[in-house]
Amino acid sequence: MSETIQSLLHEERSFEPSAEFKAQANANDPAIYDEAYHNPTKWWEGWANQLDWFEKWHTAMEFDAPNAKWFLGGKLNAAYNCVDRHAEGDRANKPAIIFEGEPGDTKTLTYKEVKDQVSQIANALKSMGVQKGDRVCIYLPMVPELPMTMLACARIGAAHTVVFGGFSADSVRERANDASCKVIVTADGGWRRGNVVQLKKITDEALDMGCPTVESVLVLERTGEATGTVTYKQGRDFKWSETVTTQSTDCPCEPMDAEDLLFILYTSGSTGKPKGITHTTGGYLTGVYATSKLIFDLKEDDIHFCTADCGWITGHSYITYGPMANGATVLIYEGAPDTPDKDRFWRIIEKHRATILYTAPTAIRTFMKWGLEYPGRCDLSSLRLLGSVGEPINPEAWIWYHQNIGMGKCPVVDTWWQTETGAIMISPLPGITSTKPGSATHPFPGVRIKVLDEHGNGVDVAGPGATNTPKGGFLVMDHPWPSMTRGIFNDPERYEKTYWSRFPDSYFAGDGIKLDEDGYLWLLGRVDDIMLVAGHNISTMEVESALVDHPAVAEAAVIGKTHDVKGQAIAAFVILRAGYLPSDALTAEIKAHVGKKIGPVARPDDVYISAELPKTRSGKIMRRLLRDIAEGRALGDVSTLADSSVVASLKDRYEASEG
Ligand code: PRX
Repeated sequence: MSETIQSLLHEERSFEPSAEFKAQANANDPAIYDEAYHNPTKWWEGWANQLDWFEKWHTAMEFDAPNAKWFLGGKLNAAYNCVDRHAEGDRANKPAIIFEGEPGDTKTLTYKEVKDQVSQIANALKSMGVQKGDRVCIYLPMVPELPMTMLACARIGAAHTVVFGGFSADSVRERANDASCKVIVTADGGWRRGNVVQLKKITDEALDMGCPTVESVLVLERTGEATGTVTYKQGRDFKWSETVTTQSTDCPCEPMDAEDLLFILYTSGSTGKPKGITHTTGGYLTGVYATSKLIFDLKEDDIHFCTADCGWITGHSYITYGPMANGATVLIYEGAPDTPDKDRFWRIIEKHRATILYTAPTAIRTFMKWGLEYPGRCDLSSLRLLGSVGEPINPEAWIWYHQNIGMGKCPVVDTWWQTETGAIMISPLPGITSTKPGSATHPFPGVRIKVLDEHGNGVDVAGPGATNTPKGGFLVMDHPWPSMTRGIFNDPERYEKTYWSRFPDSYFAGDGIKLDEDGYLWLLGRVDDIMLVAGHNISTMEVESALVDHPAVAEAAVIGKTHDVKGQAIAAFVILRAGYLPSDALTAEIKAHVGKKIGPVARPDDVYISAELPKTRSGKIMRRLLRDIAEGRALGDVSTLADSSVVASLKDRYEASEG
């Protein structure tokens, strides 16, 4: 990557934490950065000490790249830490999970009730033959039984692999087989946009295609009569109402080795089959516990609303394990943000008095497109902190979120991390960091980040206040952290090749990053998405940011399209905000706007106005498909798209406009 990256987007705005927030924050002393930087292992041991261990570790860390181990010899149980230690103490009657179903049904479960139900699920799994060391596939809607089943697995020492409830039969089959799961836990259905997603039927299809290791299926009756016909196979399928609720509420927590597998979560590879990312018990729990406490500033009376599904790592780390290890109250929602109306999230916040909101930039941009009318209807005054995750948040979305949802008073934490990192790696600490919109700011204390060029030369990013040389390059970690993945399930070679082969003894995350002159980090998206235009490296994300900065543009996706002279030329697909109509004049204006914001080299050659963009179900834009469209190729794999018709219609319109 060349030096030109640094001369692009420039953000001048900066937001200090308020004196009031600072005074009450869990972290308000910048000295912790130095302390953790100089002795990260000791820092992490301090956090591990706040968990409950059956036996203490004898060695804090061992690293022989690419393999790291943490808290060797230690024994603990994740469910004990997330449930029992609260259920037996002062928090017994504190709400652990507040649930809102899409049809409007709500339920609040205290820590004591969660402990009883987790134990019953655990006993039910045992009755189906699940033992310590086995794997269980969880394919449930976003209902309390989902995090509780994860914890039930952890309780008995079985690893879970959660498959997102929007995925197909083929995805269930592939994951259940790769992890050789013994049981699938599913539901008759789940609610999405007023319809029932037929989870049991999809599970049956998966089993019909062949899941040789699956012996039993446990079925939660969620949608009941509305589901239509649900078939139960004698001896294989078990109803929740007959199998779980009849169990004893007593189930001991299995003492697990710190390095025992806690879960596998599949993440799609750019090519080939999904990768089973593994996480172990002690290190993972330490990472999510510490980051939840400091980044979300979790307090006893907080109501933490993370809008992710437990089918993604965000739901694992910042619904189930991180907040619950802290004894917090988590608020979960089953359905779509626009059902019955586009104010659903804001209604939920108002009704349950959520104090923390953690969501994704793609959602924020959608809310911007829908307009202020919807949040404007609701009382959002309970909110005290906002978080963002999943992709770079462009400054305009950051400002909109801060002003209109956070009412200008809530700190915004833009958190960078990955399924593989387990926990947040780069983020502001809300009582310490002055934030710059669009920058994820600094590495979390105890996390070492490097920015390297293609030759492996670069800088070690120190904490705030350090004098750093500005640099654009690859985001790399060469020092282990507790919650790092222990590899790809059953495929150590692929793990090494995918993450550890670009730079010696270093983990390369796949992302481009830029360090500015004040020591702030700016994520630039996947390096595969960085374009080379007439000899300049330009990040698709920066051009997209400049595009959405134009008042007419609601969303944008940018790709590099092969060009005879420049190597690559920039093509932009944009969605207009309500009230703007496509015209040649508007297209010219949008191109000029980017030229002015970033520089002439970043001015798109083409701007296509579109009604939708192809996105994965977790909201990431599939630029690969846009490249296929722009270069007139047959469409590649569209199986992970949220709505595959979007691409087909986009391709038709694109080809018509090319004429
Ligand atoms: O490219 C980065 C982007 O999402 C990738 C990780 O995706 P996944 O494993 O699905 O996990 C998503 C939730 C943690 C990263 O390699 N990404 C995630 N958060 C950010 C981000 N890019 C920029 N800024 C972020 N805050």
